Amino acid sequence: MEMPDKGTSWDDLAPEMIRRGSGDAKWREGKTAVYVFNAGEDVARVQKEAYTMYMSENGLGPAAFPSLKQMEEEVIQMGLGLLHGPDSADGAITSGGTDSITMAVKAARDYARNDLGKTGQLNIVAPYSAHPAFDKAAIMMDLELRRIPVGTDLLADCDAMTAAIDNDTMMLVGSAPNFPYGLIDPITQLGQIAEEKNVWLHVDACVGGYIAPFVRMNGVDVPDFDFSVAGVLSMSADLHKYGFCAKGASTVLFRDAELKKHMIFDCKDWPGGRMITPTLAGTRPGGAISAAWAVMNFLGVQGYKNKHQQVTDARAAIEVGVKKLGFKILGTPLLGIVAFEHPDLDVFAIYKQMYDRGWFTSLCSQPKALHLMLSPFHKTVTDVYLADLSDSIEQVKSGDKSAVKESRYS
Ligand SMILES: Cc1ncc(COP(=O)(O)O)c(C=O)c1O
Repeated sequence: MEMPDKGTSWDDLAPEMIRRGSGDAKWREGKTAVYVFNAGEDVARVQKEAYTMYMSENGLGPAAFPSLKQMEEEVIQMGLGLLHGPDSADGAITSGGTDSITMAVKAARDYARNDLGKTGQLNIVAPYSAHPAFDKAAIMMDLELRRIPVGTDLLADCDAMTAAIDNDTMMLVGSAPNFPYGLIDPITQLGQIAEEKNVWLHVDACVGGYIAPFVRMNGVDVPDFDFSVAGVLSMSADLHKYGFCAKGASTVLFRDAELKKHMIFDCKDWPGGRMITPTLAGTRPGGAISAAWAVMNFLGVQGYKNKHQQVTDARAAIEVGVKKLGFKILGTPLLGIVAFEHPDLDVFAIYKQMYDRGWFTSLCSQPKALHLMLSPFHKTVTDVYLADLSDSIEQVKSGDKSAVKESRYS
């Protein structure tokens, strides 16, 4: 498309944009269990209003916008408080999980080189289930990523990971939880290995950092996964996932402010004056910072406990329902992700049937399983999901794979 010669009024553009979204995944109806976290209208309103209030401000300029600096610091303190960061801990807001992971890898690399004197081809040892953001970071920084098969319990295999560590290993990775199975790796054991081998342990809690603490407060026995484990030197925890903040916001956290220094970029050798940035971004959207600050203060501990109870209630209801339909849950998920395989049926065919009924969810490929990343809103649609799943199974069993025209829930 060429840029139009004359502009179009917003009154005409807005309906056109709404029309374009009509073919998108139906997340507002609760039929999407990936990409979007629907915590309800109350949170959405705070996200939007707080985002637009600081939409034009730029986190690149803390001297110009001390408001954003203060909000970022407070968000980081709240995150560290939830994740047992010691007094020496520090962190920064990034644009998302991939960004947080990339920055933690960058800091660990520079720490390995500068503080530990490692000069070889550095490598990262991660479980096979770790997020591809580690591959991306490794590619960008010319590092080797060693993906180690998970155990039969689908968790990081500590013995195999130990065996993969050598003198050039700069980082060990565990997830809390991983995305494919929603399971928390044995972080305590990984922490012991990290300390013994003097290797940096990063816990990727992108999808768990802002739910696990509240699920624990709600009475679930969540294993240690954060800075309470001594070997954990950095964590990634996404605000825009289970923190229910507006998109474009994650936290990268370090056990010690000295470790964080390895992340900071500082350049004065150009004509534009000294430029210091904590993360990869130059311009940092003020709205993402302000919306994160506002949502965290809007919900508070009680609000998060409440929303996350809805998430785990939804997961529990789904687990009961899918087991009745013959599925087997992968491991014992404690948080918002659940994946389930079927001993007899092709879950990809079932997925297609669900898709035809308007559901947009994920799949796990090893083993083949249906995958849901649940939001508070899903608590209201678990019956619909299970009914559609039951119908989908019947359709697959009957060999009829044709698309269903009408959804039960629309
Ligand atoms: C465990 C885990 N780590 C990292 C990421 C990457 O986060 P983002 O998509 O915000 O870059 C995700 C995304 O789903 C994730 O589930």
